[in-house]
Amino acid sequence: MFSLKGKTAVITGGGSGIGRGIAKVFAAQGADVKIVELNQDAGLAVCKEIIEAGGSASVHGCDVSKQADVVSLFNSIAKIDILVNNAGIAHVGRADTTSEADMDRIYNVNVKGAYNCLFAAIPLMKKNGGGVILNLASIVAIVGVADRFAYSMSKGAIYAMTLSVAKDYLADNIRCNSISPARVHTPFVDGFIAKNYPGQEKEMFEKLSKTQPVGRMATPEDIAAIALYLCADESSFVTGNDYPIDGGFIKLNS
Ligand SMILES: NC(=O)c1ccc[n+]([C@@H]2O[C@H](COP(=O)([O-])OP(=O)(O)OC[C@H]3O[C@@H](n4cnc5c(N)ncnc54)[C@H](O)[C@@H]3O)[C@@H](O)[C@H]2O)c1
Repeated sequence: MFSLKGKTAVITGGGSGIGRGIAKVFAAQGADVKIVELNQDAGLAVCKEIIEAGGSASVHGCDVSKQADVVSLFNSIAKIDILVNNAGIAHVGRADTTSEADMDRIYNVNVKGAYNCLFAAIPLMKKNGGGVILNLASIVAIVGVADRFAYSMSKGAIYAMTLSVAKDYLADNIRCNSISPARVHTPFVDGFIAKNYPGQEKEMFEKLSKTQPVGRMATPEDIAAIALYLCADESSFVTGNDYPIDGGFIKLNS
């Protein structure tokens, strides 16, 4: 079950954290993985890990917020069976403490970046008879989390784009779903703690772990397992849905 043999999977932000976890699992299941990364060295390191383990992968340096670059790269890949819109950046702030520059930065990467990849991949998928799209949303798309104004906006947009795309391309055999993780232990979280709570890293890590009722953060592998299901043929009946992978965060936090 869950073979991705013969499929080409484009994974944005595959050089770190969740994207790295998804890239490794997809390659282990037989996919030819294309890592689209701003940080080409990080992407290269993941490709090396994959190739050493017997898989197939390549890295493509690209900023997903630049539409012309994304279109030209995706056209050169040509056959895209799976797109994982994973590249994303964080921001801490409220509506009145988020600068215009920060709002634009979060929008350009998290919202416009995902749109650029949809814009570039969908025509190729249509030409090839279909495809699967998986977007990385977050629990903040549907739960009020303090001090995440711009980031929540961006993940709410991902949630809505998922529904829109799933509806529009039903007849083209393109499925589209999203995953909404609670906290996942990745460099994204470590960087956030180091930047915002210097000197209190250990306490904050424990505090953030306990906000999931199961008592820990997710691992990238926890997320990669459902990503594999949602991108494999076994989930062919599944489209237009969001899947919270949250250690009980949404429904058990009372
Ligand atoms: N870690 C969490 O707790 C968590 C929770 C919910 C959702 N998410 C979402 O999952 C996704 C991955 O998060 P992560 O924790 O693995 O992050 P991460 O910072 O570990 O990795 C993100 C990767 O995206 C790349 N990237 C950033 N901007 C880019 C751009 N403009 N073009 C191309 N690549 C770019 C980075 O170089 C990095 O390698 C993000 O969309 C994030 O919002 C993360």
